[in-house]
Amino acid sequence: MTIQNLLQNKERRFVLVGGKGGVGKSSISSSIAVKFAQNGQPTLIISTDPAHSLSDSFDQNLNQSIPVKINNIDNLWAMEIRPEDAGGDFKSLAGLDDNEEGIDQMMSSLSSLGFDEVGDLLDTAPPGIDEAVALAKVIQFIDSDEYAHFERIIFDTAPTGHTLRLLSLPDFLDGFLGKLLKVRVKMSNAMAGFKSLLGMNSERDNTLEVLENLKESMRIVRELFRNQQTTEFIIATIPTIMSINESERLADQLRIEEIQVHNIVVNQVMPENIDCKFCSVRAKGQKENLDYIKKLFSNYHITEVEYFDTEIRGLDSLKMMATHLLGN
Ligand SMILES: Nc1ncnc2c1ncn2[C@@H]1O[C@H](COP(=O)(O)OP(=O)(O)O)[C@@H](O)[C@H]1O
Ligand SMILES: [Mg+2]
Repeated sequence: MTIQNLLQNKERRFVLVGGKGGVGKSSISSSIAVKFAQNGQPTLIISTDPAHSLSDSFDQNLNQSIPVKINNIDNLWAMEIRPEDAGGDFKSLAGLDDNEEGIDQMMSSLSSLGFDEVGDLLDTAPPGIDEAVALAKVIQFIDSDEYAHFERIIFDTAPTGHTLRLLSLPDFLDGFLGKLLKVRVKMSNAMAGFKSLLGMNSERDNTLEVLENLKESMRIVRELFRNQQTTEFIIATIPTIMSINESERLADQLRIEEIQVHNIVVNQVMPENIDCKFCSVRAKGQKENLDYIKKLFSNYHITEVEYFDTEIRGLDSLKMMATHLLGN
């Protein structure tokens, strides 16, 4: 499926744009969203990237963790997820950081009672967990009825290699989260025991449910990422060796995780210009890199987008970029 075919193929409800910071992920994903909306498809673009730039791309405040209607265009909503709303920090989500001292005490009591695996579990949280949690939380609410009318959901997010691995490792779900669950159960049981000894009522602990839901959501994210019918993952890059090497690593990682990629967008390609020496020197250097990209990614559809003389900001420039990306 080429990127141009994406517009008509509504089966691909989810579109993800991945790549290094600064290559144009927000501009590309926003342009695609604008094009879908112009085509009459109710579209929601979501950013889970803590370094949000959707508000900049649309020149509108979108940092409210709820879909905000984009001005002056029909069918388009956008939202930036604030990390605190996404439960971005898994420790707070698991209710494990509200009382560090108390938890330390509880840990040592548990260890002395023979619960050895408690150990330093909290300090060994795998990298990428916060982002995986954020994605899982997003999935929890876009699964709800309220979001059912969005025919297209575009993710402006760059899952790192770590996050991808976490999401696709069944062992992780049953390993790390499983251990966390066990520890929580033991802690609440011990806590309840202590409290009843002291004649206190123990409050109901819903951490178990929260973590079970999270596990389930991560499984859904994993399936969504891998679903070739509903999901299109686009790699964004620019014609520099550094960015190409990074894209190659990302493509390898996605292949290992069985996430299909058909399209690579090469952004910021210098137009030929004989009047500007700087531009023509840059363009020549890029030409070699573009040839390299074509050889390296010969199995992918490659779409080039030129380097415009203005920033991609506001609806007009997004529409212009969309035309370059997806045609008229
Ligand atoms: N093809 C392009 N031509 C000109 N400026 C661009 C182009 N693509 C992106 N930009 C600009 O480059 C900057 C980074 O783009 P952005 O989409 O925010 O990247 P990312 O989301 O990957 O960090 C922004 O200022 C954007 O307006
Ligand atoms: Mg961005």
